[in-house]
Amino acid sequence: MNDILGDWKRSHYCGHLTAADIGSTVCMMGWVQRRRDHGGLIFIDLRDREGIVQLALDPDRDPDAHSRADKVRNEFVVAIQGKVSPRPEGTVNPKMKTGEVEVEVSELRILNTAQTPPFMIDEYSEAAENIRLKYRYLDLRRPTIQDNLVMRHKVARTVRRYLDANGFLEIETPVLTKSTPEGARDYLVPSRVNSGTFYALPQSPQLFKQLLMVSGYDRYFQIVKCFRDEDLRADRQPEFTQIDCEMSFVSRDDVMTIMEEMISTIFKEAIDVDVQLPMAHLTYAEAMDRFGVDNPDMRFGLELTELSDLVAASGFKVFADVVAKGGIVKAINVKGGASFSRKELDDLTEFVKIYGAKGLAWVKMTEEGWQSPIAKFFSENDLSAINERLAAELGDLLLFVADKPKITNEALGRLRGHLGQKLELAQKDDFRFVWITDFPLLEWDEESKRHVAVHHPFTAPMDEDISLLDSDPGKARAKAYDLVLNGSEIGGGSIRIHDQSVQSRMFKLMGIEQEEAREKFGFLLDALEYGAPPHGGIAFGLDRLMMILSGSDSIRDVIAFPKTQKATCLMSEAPGTVDEKQLRELSIRLAKSK
Ligand code: AMO
Ligand code: AMP
Repeated sequence: MNDILGDWKRSHYCGHLTAADIGSTVCMMGWVQRRRDHGGLIFIDLRDREGIVQLALDPDRDPDAHSRADKVRNEFVVAIQGKVSPRPEGTVNPKMKTGEVEVEVSELRILNTAQTPPFMIDEYSEAAENIRLKYRYLDLRRPTIQDNLVMRHKVARTVRRYLDANGFLEIETPVLTKSTPEGARDYLVPSRVNSGTFYALPQSPQLFKQLLMVSGYDRYFQIVKCFRDEDLRADRQPEFTQIDCEMSFVSRDDVMTIMEEMISTIFKEAIDVDVQLPMAHLTYAEAMDRFGVDNPDMRFGLELTELSDLVAASGFKVFADVVAKGGIVKAINVKGGASFSRKELDDLTEFVKIYGAKGLAWVKMTEEGWQSPIAKFFSENDLSAINERLAAELGDLLLFVADKPKITNEALGRLRGHLGQKLELAQKDDFRFVWITDFPLLEWDEESKRHVAVHHPFTAPMDEDISLLDSDPGKARAKAYDLVLNGSEIGGGSIRIHDQSVQSRMFKLMGIEQEEAREKFGFLLDALEYGAPPHGGIAFGLDRLMMILSGSDSIRDVIAFPKTQKATCLMSEAPGTVDEKQLRELSIRLAKSK
């Protein structure tokens, strides 16, 4: 037994005390949230993982305890014994879980002291994020972050229970491995024993889970860390967690059905929300057409409407030229947006330029008709045809982009998302799921001048599109699917290629020569020749899912020890330099930095 605790044993968590405990003698341990001195009477808010309770120390009851309480400061660690009593009339705090009671302390021990923390440990801590991340162990004491991590634990538990009940086996795959292409750069780890060679940390367990299917494990899952060296955004971390699944002898629909039931179970158990099943589906083509992006937020309308045919012959040269060159013109109708200021319109124009648009044409629907810099270029007939297609009414704002299809869709699609937020068209507690299916198999990469896989190179083409692989590979669609929730891609997967010859053909299409394919994925190609069952799967981004479930704005708020946007840990100061000796052992010499 630890000396300092003596024979004291905790009887209750602070946050658990209720009126039902009135009269009991309790022993509690925790951190001092706040100490208030009311002329002799001292109150301490004592905090632990489960919440906060008020302690009352009266010099008449125990002068010793009282004089020790006099010394405690915020974040001291203390243990107390005392009696639970009702709060005096008028001091009940209905906002607190324990607000009906307080503990009359008979004995208080200081278990440890604490420096004055660099920020207040409370719900409303306004400290800059870099300070909070430097002192992450203090930041983690805040109730909101604790709630997020508790919920994360519960979600992982639900996932394990659900998948276990559905016959999935949890199997670990290696972290020191070879590259798994998921579109990012690899994190490399040098090998000391095999000098001059490197492991890659997995971008996902993709290859290994497919091998487990070849081995006959039938249904696999893993809650697993993945590593990707890519540009970070608000919903991306260099190391993040996937709920990774793979199944044999299944179709696309089988995977989607079992996985949407898992998601619905998670929402019920974590936040008591009923998700309507089956979830909505959109093909990739329809998503691009109506929303301009493959991860549409389905909580609001503001859909994109194509006008290319109506403006092709118009007097506005910008639009007509774009259409003549194979581009498209699309618009969105912002209901009631005619009140936007000039400054707001300029900001929206700057916004679409981020995505490569050359401009943003706008029309305000006023009593006098179109108020717009481009009104003069259109005939009355053009105007009414455009108005009709966009269902334009008095007070609306019409926004147009004309460009190559890719730019038009992305610029207007992102603008739609941006306006959805600006105009508060979407509620945080409204959860709209949509499966996006029928993705293109390949896309052309301008930089490397070759086709690359849209999902990953192991994804099977749709059966009816196999013949396109020779004639027009860019048109072939994949047996791939993403699950999108409120504009965020929370998961993605596909049916895989289980036929070695098709896999080799795919590598060839992507300009990966046989030798390179053998060197990188020889073990997979070999395995496919030893009885690979038809198989497919999916991986969900647990961090992204947790962000949405907990209503957090940053992915860092659902990860205990996250990295910054520059992939650093401000607390441990990783990444760091290493000794000359370590480098020598690894046969590594650093280029002189400038
Ligand atoms: P994919 O690359 O689509 O598929 O990843 C699956 C899901 O992981 C999440 N995710 C991320 N979350 C946080 N930070 C990141 N940097 C990050 N990158 C991805 C997303 C995404 O939907 N092996 C395939 C899955 C399969 O085919 O079964 C894969 O990794 O929510
Ligand atoms: P201009 O005739 O270039 O002054 O453009 C008139 C309006 O059309 C301005 O509001 C521009 O922002 C807009 N505009 C210019 N190019 C495009 C384009 N490619 N797509 C949409 N609007 C454009």
